[in-house]
Amino acid sequence: MTSPRKIIIDTDPGQDDAAAIMLAFASPGELEILGITVVAGNVPLRLTSRNARVVCELCGRTDVKVYEGVDRPMRRDLVTAEHVHGKTGLDGAELPEPTMAVQSEHAVDFIIETLRKEPAGTVTLCTLGPLSNIGNVLERAPDVAPRIREIVMMGGGYFEGGNITPAAEFNIYVDPHAAEIVFRSGVPLVVMPLDVTHQLMTTKARVSRIAAIGTRPAKVMVEWLEFFERFDEEKYGSDGGPLHDPTVIAYLLEPELFSGRDCNVEIETASELTMGMTVVDWWRVSGRPANARVMRNVDSDGFFALLTDRFSRI
Ligand code: RIB
Ligand code: CA
Repeated sequence: MTSPRKIIIDTDPGQDDAAAIMLAFASPGELEILGITVVAGNVPLRLTSRNARVVCELCGRTDVKVYEGVDRPMRRDLVTAEHVHGKTGLDGAELPEPTMAVQSEHAVDFIIETLRKEPAGTVTLCTLGPLSNIGNVLERAPDVAPRIREIVMMGGGYFEGGNITPAAEFNIYVDPHAAEIVFRSGVPLVVMPLDVTHQLMTTKARVSRIAAIGTRPAKVMVEWLEFFERFDEEKYGSDGGPLHDPTVIAYLLEPELFSGRDCNVEIETASELTMGMTVVDWWRVSGRPANARVMRNVDSDGFFALLTDRFSRI
């Protein structure tokens, strides 16, 4: 029995972030959460901080430490996504304001100190939002890059294009400069792009199986998903919406659900038209060295079976 994998979850909750966090909470045998670091993204930092603690309290995990990170991208103004997630970022369910405290240490300092303290190559960064905290970590403390085991991120898109602009996916679009730092860092990267998450639709049948769990966390999760998916159902004319962020945690639990290939990814930071585009050299025509494992396929039913089974354990 191997010891649980040490992870830091960097997140901008967001209903789909909440599902990813809940999936991690439900997997203590496989994952040791060293901390949750929050970043501005779907909603401003004040709300992503609140929302992360709402999820912790809903799941009875007030033991998990939450650290506030940066409240804006490295070189651009913040763009948020209340049109998708609602004004609080966790619309859909009525929950009390959290009472658990935020840690006093800044998230960037926490990540740097943790990477320096833990044995090299043992900590995985799981990023669910814009990469602003991670970009600041790598810019301030380049010595920690080789100490990171892996960064598993939800972000980018290639065959599916973008979701916030025709060219860019939201997490990368919000902070393309941070993304550029991460993709040029040499840290092993696993990328869950829209090409994967658009195969993971929260259909009524799938959501009803989560509802059938009958616990309060499952009930709240269903309320969040039913709110979150309405925007994409209208946009794509689909049954349900794509469930993005839990792919990061699912990859750590059951990597065989996913397949992809190592290829070069560069980030557009010059053109406003394609700002934040992940230029994925999937067909290896550029000659540029591979810097990421980009996922392309997923066992959708297997993913939702994992999610539903684990949600039932909380
Ligand atoms: O484009 C989807 C990503 O943007 C998800 O992480 C969602 O939570 C938002 O942050
Ligand atoms: Ca997110």
